[in-house]
Amino acid sequence: MDKLPNRFAPYDDRTQPAFKVEGYKETITRVPMQGFYKRPATLTEVTGPLNLARKLDADLSDLSRAKGGGRDGKDGARAMGQLIFVTGRLLDEDGSPVRNSIIEVWHANSAGRYIHKMDAGSPFPEDPNFFGSGRCLTDHEGRYQYISIKPGAYPVPNHPQRWWRPPHIHLSIFGSGFMSRLVTQMFFPGDPLNAQDRILNSVPDPKGRERMISRPIPMMELPRADVVGFAHDIVVRGSRATPMGI
Ligand SMILES: [Fe+2]
Repeated sequence: MDKLPNRFAPYDDRTQPAFKVEGYKETITRVPMQGFYKRPATLTEVTGPLNLARKLDADLSDLSRAKGGGRDGKDGARAMGQLIFVTGRLLDEDGSPVRNSIIEVWHANSAGRYIHKMDAGSPFPEDPNFFGSGRCLTDHEGRYQYISIKPGAYPVPNHPQRWWRPPHIHLSIFGSGFMSRLVTQMFFPGDPLNAQDRILNSVPDPKGRERMISRPIPMMELPRADVVGFAHDIVVRGSRATPMGI
């Protein structure tokens, strides 16, 4: 059992973002400031969480309207913004699908504001029809999909050199267990703000950065005509792992 953690191919640090991102002081509070202590994994860490899909509501794959949040318990009105469809496969380090795994999703509304007390000082409006988070479940091929509205960019305050975070989507993934937990961010292809984002560009390896940027899906390949589509495969661990993004 104590050899289990070593069977995963280690990732190259150059494919990962800096722990401390210059100009974004909040990153300091979200990462370990001391070296890691190597210890054997416990049985729970290797095998859990079990049946997470039964414990959490994974049927929250339409973030564009609140489930049951409208009148008479019906789904709420649609949030403002461009409808998007995001899909991809969740893969393990060897390319095998990670099945029946919950992906949690959260992002800012179309104006660039989060529903969170830390964003109370935002100059941008809230959207009463956008709650900002959801969940979906991977299928037998490791495929996931969700509908949402495209998030807006927002400025990073508290720094003399103010800068914009480009539109991005936060993701939390358990993979096949706690040992493959991944918190990352997905970016949109071709956005001019990507080039100046300090989190994305703190990943030294260009291939690592590419793994965080989705690709457009041709309209004819989309399941419906009212969405802009983005494809984004995620690898939970190993040398080709999708970079962390906190
Ligand atoms: Fe964000």
